[in-house]
Amino acid sequence: MEVPLPVDPKPSTVAVWDMPTRLFHWSIVALVFTSWLSADQGYMRVHLWSGMSLLTLVLFRIGWGLAGSSTARFRDFLHRPRAIAGYLKDMAGGKKMLYAGHNPAGGLMVAVLLAVLLAQAASGLFSNDGLKFSGPLALLVSADMSDRLTRLHGIIFDIILILVWLHVVAVGFYLLVKGDNLVRPMITGKKKGASVPEGAIIVFAHPARALGVLTLSAAIAAWILF
Ligand code: HEM
Ligand code: HEM
Repeated sequence: MEVPLPVDPKPSTVAVWDMPTRLFHWSIVALVFTSWLSADQGYMRVHLWSGMSLLTLVLFRIGWGLAGSSTARFRDFLHRPRAIAGYLKDMAGGKKMLYAGHNPAGGLMVAVLLAVLLAQAASGLFSNDGLKFSGPLALLVSADMSDRLTRLHGIIFDIILILVWLHVVAVGFYLLVKGDNLVRPMITGKKKGASVPEGAIIVFAHPARALGVLTLSAAIAAWILF
């Protein structure tokens, strides 16, 4: 059941991010780090579990983008290229624009990050370490294809590193140049009232729905694994 929360015209803070979206974010940060460290140290069982957990969470986030709270939905933050260019132009011109959730440029970054994380987990499924570990779907392809996908897995990780660096620089830019702290809301869920458009209606999906989407995502990952 969805509960529309009426927004007081001048509240000091406004709840914008639901708990599932916040938990998702900080969990993927931890899992990307764990996936890198485990691969680097050769702990491939750990790598398998962190990778499959990340796959589950990315599937969850795709489901949540379709059926989650309003600020988490793709239709709230995916914009046409022209709208994104317009946003960047207006921002460069010093225009102050308010968004309850992701701004149009941030929305693009989110979509790209989710796509590369999905590609990373998907390529990992077919990868091998040249020793005794291979991904759960590696036997479905030839050894040569598995080697190629392993190389791709390494290349996509380099792309992830660049994108995460850009992502953190962008967040730092909003904080230091525009005086807009986006990190606190990703932790507490709340933005300053003055940072949210007046009269914005934010609809929070029931946590049980998040649990349902997560269960479905975990079931897909388990089906791949076993
Ligand atoms: C492995 C590293 C990271 C990845 C893969 C990542 C990925 C993402 C993704 C996918 C989102 C969209 C959240 C959603 O709508 O579900 C997001 C948002 C966000 N991330 Fe990260 N993130 C990473 C690290 C960080 C770090 C270190 C910070 C803090 C400095 C950070 C700050 C934020 C903030 C503030 C937002 C919300 C942006 C907004 O208000 O539009 N992220 N990140
Ligand atoms: C979905 C489950 C995943 C499986 C089954 C998997 C499998 C593998 C395998 C078999 C290797 C060994 C390649 C080699 O030794 O050359 C590897 C390496 C690696 N994986 Fe994964 N992986 C998964 C997900 C991920 C994720 C989500 C990340 C990071 C976001 C990641 C990051 C890496 C890195 C950094 C390496 C080292 C690449 C290199 O040496 O060039 N993997 N993975």
